[in-house]
Amino acid sequence: AEVVIVPDRTTAGALVADHIAAVIRRRPDAVLGLATGSTPLPVYAAMRERLADADVSRVRGFALDEYVGIDLAHPESYSSVIAREVVEPLGLDPDRILTPPAHDADLAGAGERYDAAIRAAGGVDVQLLGIGTDGHIGFNEPGSSFASRTRVKTLTRQTREDNARFFDSIDEVPRHCLTQGLGTILDARHLVLLAFGEGKAAAVAGAVEGPVSALLPGSAIQLHPHVTVVVDEAAASRLQ
Ligand code: F6R
Repeated sequence: AEVVIVPDRTTAGALVADHIAAVIRRRPDAVLGLATGSTPLPVYAAMRERLADADVSRVRGFALDEYVGIDLAHPESYSSVIAREVVEPLGLDPDRILTPPAHDADLAGAGERYDAAIRAAGGVDVQLLGIGTDGHIGFNEPGSSFASRTRVKTLTRQTREDNARFFDSIDEVPRHCLTQGLGTILDARHLVLLAFGEGKAAAVAGAVEGPVSALLPGSAIQLHPHVTVVVDEAAASRLQ
């Protein structure tokens, strides 16, 4: 992977937003892979300025994951987050931006259909990724198969604790999610993994330099030919 160390998240956001804006100008129907959580927010904020005068009406997007068992209208459902942080501020067409349909009664079928929709769109051009403190990408928790496709996963206690900040209490954090698999993520043509802060340093070192292992799912990025890792000094602090 190409590792870019930046002074702060604003710089990271500007750098990645420049790249994505260039991709969209070159290819107005570009397919974006969208992450949620805190990490990509500076990218989305910076994209807003860069795309103000661009035609984004044909941009397509697929979110990485969605919680199972919360109301779609809940402000922390990833469908709500993507609408609020990405679709509305950037003026994208909501019909072209999908999140995994975690409210489908047939979840196994829903996962397969989501993968099929990504394939039908021609695959993801640029996939944004954050990383969990336990090394997950998407919500592929430790032990996830590198060949996995979009499916239901159980969130680890650590992930639920990390995400409790978005909810009133940890008991409200969903226990399951529908997430793109590692195999699904690896099909994207370019992976851009971002991480900020000391709390991500071990996961970043494991993903970039550690043994390729299902115990640290982020290490799957080492199997991909085109990866850019954008980190601040703190998140880079355990890299060799
Ligand atoms: C979110 C996702 C997760 C997060 C990760 C880091 O769509 O797939 O892998 O990227 O949990 O979360 P933050 O950015 O909130 O630290």
